[in-house]
Amino acid sequence: MKAVTWQGKKKIAVQTVSDPIIQEPTDAIIKVTSSGLCGSDLHLYEVMTPFMNEGNILGHEPMGIVQEIGSSVTNLKVGDRVVVPFNISCGHCFMCNDGMQSQCETTQVREFNRGAALFGYTKLYGEVAGAQAEYLRVPHADYGAVKVPAGPSDDRFLYLSDVLPTAWQAVEYAKIPKEGTVVVFGLGPIGEMAARIAKYRGAKMVIGVDVVPDRLERAKRRGVYTVNAETQSNELIDIIASLTDGRGADAAIDAVGMEAHGSPGAKLLQSGAGMLPDVVAEKVFQKAGIDRLSALLMAMESVRRGGTLSIVGVYAGVADPLPLGTLFDRQITIKMGQANVRRWTDDILPLLTDKDELGVDDFATHHLSLDEAPEAYEKFQQKADGAFKIVFNP
Ligand SMILES: NC(=O)c1ccc[n+]([C@@H]2O[C@H](COP(=O)([O-])OP(=O)(O)OC[C@H]3O[C@@H](n4cnc5c(N)ncnc54)[C@H](O)[C@@H]3O)[C@@H](O)[C@H]2O)c1
Ligand SMILES: [Zn+2]
Ligand SMILES: [Zn+2]
Repeated sequence: MKAVTWQGKKKIAVQTVSDPIIQEPTDAIIKVTSSGLCGSDLHLYEVMTPFMNEGNILGHEPMGIVQEIGSSVTNLKVGDRVVVPFNISCGHCFMCNDGMQSQCETTQVREFNRGAALFGYTKLYGEVAGAQAEYLRVPHADYGAVKVPAGPSDDRFLYLSDVLPTAWQAVEYAKIPKEGTVVVFGLGPIGEMAARIAKYRGAKMVIGVDVVPDRLERAKRRGVYTVNAETQSNELIDIIASLTDGRGADAAIDAVGMEAHGSPGAKLLQSGAGMLPDVVAEKVFQKAGIDRLSALLMAMESVRRGGTLSIVGVYAGVADPLPLGTLFDRQITIKMGQANVRRWTDDILPLLTDKDELGVDDFATHHLSLDEAPEAYEKFQQKADGAFKIVFNP
């Protein structure tokens, strides 16, 4: 089959690899019909290279048609239309029973002391073959694969794999009070969807912050009050204060993560790490790793005393310097982590079946073939050509 593979820093290739086969009775094989490209894939593209191996198949946002099932899969049949969550969870362990599917104890990658295995996401997360491919082996398909109805196009359901539950959890964790205000940092797919969901769930005001003019414009069209973190960086906190009786927002969502624009210090360390031999770089990243924290620090500053900070952007550093004294004095609650995808899918599905409540049908800006992946990664990283959400149709 054809698959999108990682070949080195900023090197993506489309290759012919062997088709996946059933390995466990709980597996299924799906024929992938749509597969998203995510901000999280960009971390693998350039920053997290020490944890990648040449030939790794990328991608973790798939949907498709069940092609084959293992002997103990009883909830699916060949021909079913399914969406597959990006984290692989068993559905019956302590963590899954507690709604913490991203920490599934059956698939946890204990060798690296990490949570649940993920599709297409480095050896830290199990080095599981990813979903930007023609076919995908889905482990624990008896729980993980979410059946969706026939009818609407793939785009209606595809985002159940990541964007929707991730943004939903970000809003849930933000604990926005009724009629409250939330400020969302980062208006990529995750941040913009979180803004849509916050509005849908009753936030009075959503303030959105980004550095890319067309992303700001896009959010503005959906009723978000937008601020440019680059051109308005000096006034940013004052603007938020002026919109919230001088208090700050009830909640902030950081949907930017470790590659924020605007803080030079950590970039040095990251690009330094990129030039070291893999084993050494891995140590630097794990032991001394710090991220670019400009968006996170802004988010902390924009929240009112007693407010909540929900961090959904991915951070990988283990020695990030944080202003604990300020957070303590201002009594900020912080909630963060990988989305527990399967925990939210049943809540979200009704918003997709009757009508397109969250506007997902025209969420994607690009539908491309797998062959176009190398340019797609580049375009998405550069935020060029209006690339906001790219979907591959193998
Ligand atoms: N927690 C999870 O389970 C989970 C799931 C999916 C994605 N993510 C993470 O969420 C983040 C966003 O994902 P995405 O797909 O929307 O990616 P993205 O890269 O398209 O979005 C990031 C946005 O942040 C903006 N940005 C950069 N610096 C900024 C700054 N200083 N202030 C404000 N905005 C700034 C960028 O312009 C971009 O629009 C990534 O870190 C991704 O890894 C987390
Ligand atoms: Zn994703
Ligand atoms: Zn589990």
